[in-house]
Amino acid sequence: MDRQLSIEFVRVTEQAALRSAKLMGRGDKEGADQAAVDGMHQQFAMIPISGTVVIGEGEMDEAPMLYIGEKLGKGGEEVDIAVDPVEGTNLVAKGKQGAIAVLAIAPKGCLLHAPDMYMQKICVGPRAKGCIDINASITENLTNVANAMKRKISDLAVVILDRERHAGIINEARKAGARICLISDGDVAPSVECGIQGSGIHMAVGIGGAPEGVLAAVGLKCLGGDMQAKLIPQNEEQIKRMHAMGIKDVNKVLYMDDLVKGDDCIFTETAITDCFTMKGVKYFEGGAKTSTLVLRYKTGTVRFIETVHRFGSSKTEVIL
Ligand code: FBP
Repeated sequence: MDRQLSIEFVRVTEQAALRSAKLMGRGDKEGADQAAVDGMHQQFAMIPISGTVVIGEGEMDEAPMLYIGEKLGKGGEEVDIAVDPVEGTNLVAKGKQGAIAVLAIAPKGCLLHAPDMYMQKICVGPRAKGCIDINASITENLTNVANAMKRKISDLAVVILDRERHAGIINEARKAGARICLISDGDVAPSVECGIQGSGIHMAVGIGGAPEGVLAAVGLKCLGGDMQAKLIPQNEEQIKRMHAMGIKDVNKVLYMDDLVKGDDCIFTETAITDCFTMKGVKYFEGGAKTSTLVLRYKTGTVRFIETVHRFGSSKTEVIL
């Protein structure tokens, strides 16, 4: 894919973050999501791609924009798009940390078309690549990751969604000595950030959304990290959907290359509220500032982009 695209996509997540951040803490998760969708949609229209949404706001009859199958862009290379205009709608509505606007792009056919169901995930950074096993206990995984990272289990910080279904792994990880960051929503950002040394987190585990799992996989793949996943169907209908995707075995382990194929993908996330490695949108008189992480697998480039947006004809003094 044309490398210029990565910068074009920054404008998409920036615009989504700018618009939804306006509604931060207003208790209006639908409004925050809609604002982000509108912003993304407007920006996509200016990009020279022939994109198809494979992970988006829902099926065509559920979502007016960014629905699965929607064509985006003004024409160009054929790409598949996974997008979440607001990942962590509750976080934005409550003004809590960890919300992002995120998208991932890969050549046609390279992203797993994950249906809207649960997915069990285990994510680590490059230093623990090859040392995880989703079928092993959390204690075994912690032991192997700690060894690979040449540190004690007590020096690992593990991110887990704060859900009843995770009570078992939380207890076991605590018993093994790990430090736990419980998050109320938004597992994409920390799943990717555990691939960045200095983020203060080393592993993300547990069951969250499958679409979010594919987005996280693209980010982590670009960073050289590792991820394993399993779809967790809740009913017959979801089992049928898995079969339709060609996944006959409900226990099938999905490795990085099952989630994102090939050697060409781009990942972009802009923080709406503060994350482990990025600052949320800051508004000031006449403008705003955003922080974005842009990753390109082909070259391995990692860009942290801070942008000052000056609104209208405003030439407000730029604030560092
Ligand atoms: P939103 O779709 O409201 O933004 O929520 C996202 C999310 O918190 C994901 O980050 C996570 O994977 C999933 O929801 C968890 O689902 P549940 O809230 O059903 O446990």
